[in-house]
Amino acid sequence: MSFEFFIPCPRGLEAALAAELAEIASRHLNGAPFTAGEQVPGGVHFKGGWAAGMAANLHSRIASRVLLKIAHRPYRNEQDIYALALEQHWEQWFSANETLRVDVTAIKSPLRSLEFATLRVKDAICDRLRDKTGARPSIDTGSPDVRVFAFVTATDCTLYLDTSGEPLFKRGWRLDKGAAPLRENLAAGILRLTGWTPGTPLYDPMCGSGTFLAEAAQVAMNIAPGVDRRFGFEKFRQYDVSAWQALKVAAQDAKRAARAGRGDLLIFGSDISDNMLEKARANFERAGFPALPLKQLDARNMTPPVSEAGILVANPPYGERIEVRGRGPRGEIRNTGREEGGFRRAEADTGDIAEFFQSFGDALKKRFTGWHAFVLTSDRKLPGQLRLRESAKTPLYNGALECRLFRFDLIAGSVRQRPAADEPKA
Ligand SMILES: C[S@@+](CC[C@H](N)C(=O)[O-])C[C@H]1O[C@@H](n2cnc3c(N)ncnc32)[C@H](O)[C@@H]1O
Repeated sequence: MSFEFFIPCPRGLEAALAAELAEIASRHLNGAPFTAGEQVPGGVHFKGGWAAGMAANLHSRIASRVLLKIAHRPYRNEQDIYALALEQHWEQWFSANETLRVDVTAIKSPLRSLEFATLRVKDAICDRLRDKTGARPSIDTGSPDVRVFAFVTATDCTLYLDTSGEPLFKRGWRLDKGAAPLRENLAAGILRLTGWTPGTPLYDPMCGSGTFLAEAAQVAMNIAPGVDRRFGFEKFRQYDVSAWQALKVAAQDAKRAARAGRGDLLIFGSDISDNMLEKARANFERAGFPALPLKQLDARNMTPPVSEAGILVANPPYGERIEVRGRGPRGEIRNTGREEGGFRRAEADTGDIAEFFQSFGDALKKRFTGWHAFVLTSDRKLPGQLRLRESAKTPLYNGALECRLFRFDLIAGSVRQRPAADEPKA
């Protein structure tokens, strides 16, 4: 049997997700049906059997969820949406014993109230189950057993059953996070955009709770992102249990083998905050690779962790989230003592931030010849602050925050310098 799936992902990562899905199909599906579909802003469509849907849940690092398409039809008003939802055979998928949550997303929809549309979809599903089974499911918006998503455009309504449950960026190993952690699926997508492959040195000089490093280590060790978690489809009345067992056992075997045969991963991190490094260590311990080398260090004083050039990746603190912390001009650690999510916020004025990025840029230019540096920031003026000219910039969204991933190629003798944003151009 073949189904249509839609996989949402952070905006900007659609092509990376499509490439990842093709890889998952060729590595894990043993010829089971999979047809790549259209990329649309915010996600990728594909067709496939249960095995493909389950493999995407287990192996995709970039997906936010895997949604199974249940119905699609033009609509004019909420009553049409109610009728569409009422016709669907929900009783084949789950019973009234499961708790339910409905979410509606709309683009250019003429509907006046999304809340009312959400209520109508929920009513239709509950009415359907009451008619067919004699009982209505309870609603649980916190941790429901089953989630239904409705996606409405100006003309059409599509109903999806979520096969993932908790969003897929929740891998199950990160309990300790800082004030501004990066979502795991955004970090994994960025790693793919950098072109990093296992064996190439990878360094994050502002690693915080270690998201880039953990994602990279799992890739290098062939550990599936979902191997330690459960999925929404496991509560469904129907899914391919034997295909799931096979996929899961293969992933568990691969994880055991990876731990036994681990070599030097060449994955390095540092951060100015010992508190954050503690969190990173606790995360790595839970994720199964406690020995990643971490150092407490101001990024302005960073040096390459190995002689071979590699990939540097970082998301530095930025205005909206947290502030730069470090030593002031006279070497004093600037700190207000205010704790936020375990992270001590810094006294940082604009001068500090400008000085920090200029020194960080100097460190890149002087000490990282041959490296490729990728910096994620919402600040479009970052290249000017670093006094480096970017060789590429990719728009990405960190939640609602519009960001850029800047690429700097630090090639010997040809580092492209640029004047500071506030200096006149020569
Ligand atoms: C946006 S967070 C990075 C989050 C990280 N990617 C994660 O997954 O948790 C920025 C990090 O920069 C660190 N930081 C701030 N000032 C620094 C400095 N001068 N040198 C090195 N790290 C610094 C903070 O401690 C924080 O962990």
